[in-house]
Amino acid sequence: MVIDSIYADGYKNLCGIDIKAHPGMNIFVGDNAQGKTNLIEAIWLMTGCRSFRGTRDRDFIGFDKERADIRLGYTDRERSQSIGFAVKRQNMRDKEITLNGVKIPLLSRLFGNLKCVVFTPEDLAIAKGSPDNRRSFIDLSASQLKISFVYALNKYDNILSQRNAAIKDIQMGLANRDALDIWDVQLAKTGAYISVIRDTYCNTLNNYTKSLYNLITEGNEEFQIYYQSTIYRSLEGRTDHEGELYEIYYDKLKQSMDDDIRAGYTLCGIHRDDAVAVINGLSVREFGSQGQQRSAALAMKIAQARIISEQTGDAPVMLLDDVLSELDVKRQRFVLENIEGMQVFITCCDERTAAPSGVPANGEMFRIKNGMIDR
Ligand SMILES: Nc1ncnc2c1ncn2[C@@H]1O[C@H](COP(=O)(O)OP(=O)(O)O)[C@@H](O)[C@H]1O
Ligand SMILES: [Mg+2]
Repeated sequence: MVIDSIYADGYKNLCGIDIKAHPGMNIFVGDNAQGKTNLIEAIWLMTGCRSFRGTRDRDFIGFDKERADIRLGYTDRERSQSIGFAVKRQNMRDKEITLNGVKIPLLSRLFGNLKCVVFTPEDLAIAKGSPDNRRSFIDLSASQLKISFVYALNKYDNILSQRNAAIKDIQMGLANRDALDIWDVQLAKTGAYISVIRDTYCNTLNNYTKSLYNLITEGNEEFQIYYQSTIYRSLEGRTDHEGELYEIYYDKLKQSMDDDIRAGYTLCGIHRDDAVAVINGLSVREFGSQGQQRSAALAMKIAQARIISEQTGDAPVMLLDDVLSELDVKRQRFVLENIEGMQVFITCCDERTAAPSGVPANGEMFRIKNGMIDR
């Protein structure tokens, strides 16, 4: 996938950005607070995902602006497409979103079209951070391969909230325990399915990260990542989410009902699962050095991109926001070498970080100042 053109105006501090992107490397250089991350964020929003830095809709529009506009042209392996996004201050709810000129009701409906992998300094903690971060990583990565997985995840969240609400009712004596069963059935159905998808993704991920990690450490350390379920002892070779896996899930909910009612919420299920990263048999989270944690994160992110390329036949666009400057030279080189062939957008303060020997033959450098491209 290649982004051909980017227009961004009024999105946060961005002002009249109108560029043709290079199919190879696009390097955005600028001091702090000039709009580099805002530009990466504007591109990212067009993938239909929520902002990676948690920006809410009402903060999209520049402080002194009346509207924000983002337009992207991109080409995937089938055709050229265009995405348009506009929001006005007068009526922020009513966003104008279009895909190839056709109106789309919600940004999230764009998901599955333009595929990007974003990599920020926060992602360097992915292997050691909370399980929550790793679940999000796995869920997003698996959704990029199978769009319908998003619906299963949303459905699970809905049922979980309802079950938790029912637990509260039971605690207060407003309902009896039978009230949980209807939610248990649905939670077990969706949860078993999600467990299988996540486990499968982790196995695929593991195949890629193993060799990528080997490249970073020159074969001195062995990296492994696997899915850790709070429901199943092992999911190895299992795909029968409607059969026995469903029953195990359902029984587990029944078993933990007393504890759940005491705690006031659902204690086990896919919302508590983890993807565990291990180096030479030791958990990265507990025992990994900073270097190992970072190498693990790099391997995971690059694997995410490789898997999209190989499974969909379309390489994702890589968005590296200020991440190279956080890495030593060896790891910088590792990242750049292993995303070769993909279009990449890199931001940094010092151009030497991304382009140590000047503007690369296969790329272009843009200077960004005050939300504008400095020609
Ligand atoms: N809604 C907004 N309107 C105008 N400016 C904004 C808005 N939100 C953030 N900014 C400005 O954007 C700048 C930060 O941009 P950012 O892309 O994070 O910079 P960097 O180049 O360091 O990545 C700050 O100056 C901030 O005040
Ligand atoms: Mg930034």
